Order: sequence, then structure tokens, then C-alpha cells
Amino acid sequence: MEPMQRFRQECTAFFEKLSPEGRCSLVFGDGKIKNPVLMLIGEAPGEQETLQGKPFVGKAGKNLSAFLEAVGIDRKELYVSNVVKVRPTKISPAGGIVNRPPNREEKLLFTPWLMREIAIVRPDALVTLGNVALQAFMENTVGNVHGKWQRVVVAPPEKAAFTLPLFPLYHPASVIYNRSLAEVYQADLVTLRDSLLADSTSQNDS
Ligand code: URA
Repeated sequence: MEPMQRFRQECTAFFEKLSPEGRCSLVFGDGKIKNPVLMLIGEAPGEQETLQGKPFVGKAGKNLSAFLEAVGIDRKELYVSNVVKVRPTKISPAGGIVNRPPNREEKLLFTPWLMREIAIVRPDALVTLGNVALQAFMENTVGNVHGKWQRVVVAPPEKAAFTLPLFPLYHPASVIYNRSLAEVYQADLVTLRDSLLADSTSQNDS
């Protein structure tokens, strides 16, 4: 069996065992599964992502795609996933089902699975979208480190740890209603595109 297929089966079995109903709708990653230039990591799926079974297809996803397009990064060349792979929900005061941020237990349970996933995908670099994804790797906030390359340890359970470059970005949902943050986000994406271009030029030269 393919490593990614096995990963999905094992992850599903693990979380279904924990779920009181014995089943749960996990949303796995999407895109280039083997050695993409970048692996983008978000927080958790929302309603649309759960319905369509793919990360970042709802409102935040449209925003992400538009920004990537604006700086000439092709989403099809990337692998996109989330730390938490099941939609965290709560009941709103009006009685509807709405999203909520993932809690500490969800983040702790899903982080080793994220590390395994990265070890299978083996991207050249990671891009975290927002604080939940960033904090799976370091104790810092996106306000401090956005747009600046970091180097982080990826430690999959029972496998050798390795390091990868990581570029922190704001979460695309957080920039939807905040124009000044949208400008910072756009500038960070330009920095990212320029470093990818510089890398591919130096590889072509060697
Ligand atoms: N926000 C995320 O962090 N992930 C998704 O998949 C969708 C919205």
C-alpha cells in the first residue's frame, strides 16, 4: 500500500476509535503528494472543506488561491493540509452548528499525525497559515515571525527527526476583513515568491 494511503487509513482508524459515534469525517491534504516545493499547513477544516473532503475550498480557501495567483504561485504545485483534520464545531447562541478554534487536546492529538504526514510528503519547505499551524512547530506568534524564514524540527513518532525551512504567514481568513493585514500578507507572499525564484535560479545555475 502507498505510504499516504496507509497514513490516511491509520489516522482514520485512530480517530474513529476515539469518536463516541465510532466515525468521523476527516479532511486530508490535497495537491502534490511527493516532494512539492511547499507544503501549506492551515488550522482545521470548516463546513465546505468537510462537505467537499478537501482543505481550503471555502471562503478562506478562495482568499488563499487569489493571493497565490497574485504572486504567481501555482496551487497545483503545492500540497495543502491542516494540523487538525476534523472540523471543530460548537452550537451558536442561535442554535446552529458553527466553527470554533481547535482546542488544546485536538491539537495535541493531531500534531504527531501532521509530523508523519510531513515525513511522507517530504516538501522542500513548510508554510504555516496562522498561529495554530505555526505553534505545532515553535512557541512564537505569527505577529513576531511572519515573512521571515525559520528552521524547525519535524519529529514523526518512531522515526528519525529532521529539519525543514518554515515560512510563517498570517491565516488567509484573518486578512479577509483587515486591509492592513492583507497588505502585510501580500508583501510576505512576494518575499516567499522571490526566495523560491532565487532558489530555482541557483539550482539551474549549478
Ligand atoms: N481554514 C483552515 O485553516 N483550513 C481549511 O481547510 C479551511 C479554512
